[in-house]
Amino acid sequence: MSVEKISVRLKIKTPQLKQQFKKNLRSIAGFNISNGIFSHRIDLLIFELGDEIEKDFEHIHVLRNSGEIDEVFFISDHYDEVVVRQAMRAGAKEFFSQPIEDKEIKGALETLKEKRLSMVGNDSPKNGQIIHVIGSKGGVGATTVAVNLAASLAQKESIQSVALIDMNLLFGDIPLFLNIVPEYNWSEITKNISRLDFTFLNNILCVDNSGLCVIPSPNYLSKQHAAKPEIIEPLLNVMQHMFDYIVIDGGQSLSGISQKILEMSNTVLLVTVLNLPCLLNTNKLLKTFHSEGFPPEQHVKVIANRFMKSSDISLKDAEISLEKKVFWTIPNDYKTTVTALNRGKALTQSAPRKEITKNFRELATKLCHMLEKNKKAPNSQARPEGI
Ligand SMILES: Nc1ncnc2c1ncn2[C@@H]1O[C@H](COP(=O)(O)OP(=O)(O)OP(=O)(O)O)[C@@H](O)[C@H]1O
Ligand SMILES: [Mg+2]
Repeated sequence: MSVEKISVRLKIKTPQLKQQFKKNLRSIAGFNISNGIFSHRIDLLIFELGDEIEKDFEHIHVLRNSGEIDEVFFISDHYDEVVVRQAMRAGAKEFFSQPIEDKEIKGALETLKEKRLSMVGNDSPKNGQIIHVIGSKGGVGATTVAVNLAASLAQKESIQSVALIDMNLLFGDIPLFLNIVPEYNWSEITKNISRLDFTFLNNILCVDNSGLCVIPSPNYLSKQHAAKPEIIEPLLNVMQHMFDYIVIDGGQSLSGISQKILEMSNTVLLVTVLNLPCLLNTNKLLKTFHSEGFPPEQHVKVIANRFMKSSDISLKDAEISLEKKVFWTIPNDYKTTVTALNRGKALTQSAPRKEITKNFRELATKLCHMLEKNKKAPNSQARPEGI
């Protein structure tokens, strides 16, 4: 596989610091330090913040918007959480506060290199697995499940790349859950459908600080640029080449777009809560899938969210009424989920040791095993795990 070198420009005023970055860049194959002015696109800009931070961020924003630079690493003379947040919003991939150790720089460069290699390495397409999360009713936790499952998958060592798509085309709230301020959203895809390829998507995806690549929904409804079912197939096809896993927060929609995703999904997680209205809706959805003939019964997994052993309706009652096993239960922990939401962080970052976070990690592992197994035996009629 031949891969072009990653072009790097250093905008570092402090001489020793500039030397330190040069030394580390030269110690890793695959980077090319560019000396010229911004006459052509630069893959990575390493930028030392000065005294006028606002102006610096504004400048970077303009450069990124014009497409002159792709990734940015920021350097600051001290650590300040507010500045870090601003840097992330300006699209920072890394934020270094001084003093900086060589191993930090090398680690960041290696990560960037690996990510680019995995993305340009289209010689071996990834055959990414599509996980479609839908809620049986509003507020049951579909977004919580989609975000935290995607974040848990992204943390796994065996997984290189995970995308998260918000299909709540009106008022999707993934940016809130991850505290990201996306420059682009769904409408860019619909406006540029003829340009839909790896390079285009790579430029518009919003990457959060845990490495998740997000396609958010638009902030307002525009009929002209609304997502359409015919866009879904080419979009997911390109994404399947780029990512190991594509998690879709489908909300409650069963629109034409949703139908297309259901057809293409490797697994559908139907999120419910063990109360009567939610279980009735879950039943209706399962019956709808059955009568439509898709998704196949074994692809649909019921997830009981906010699960409490003491609830009026037991797991067994629910399974009898649904005539289907519950694939997974997620404990009820409002405080931890809401705190993570208010902090704009996934549970893996906000509360790594809590029971609910461990539960999401285990769910990610179980799904990985199941999907890998199904990949190896795609036509197997055997009932997949968990049914
Ligand atoms: N396991 C859980 N335990 C306790 N609270 C939870 C749990 N999962 C989600 N919640 C809380 O439920 C609320 C709704 O969650 P979320 O936004 O994920 O639901 P949703 O199905 O996506 O809603 P919507 O229909 O508005 O898109 C949030 O306040 C969230 O913190
Ligand atoms: Mg939601």
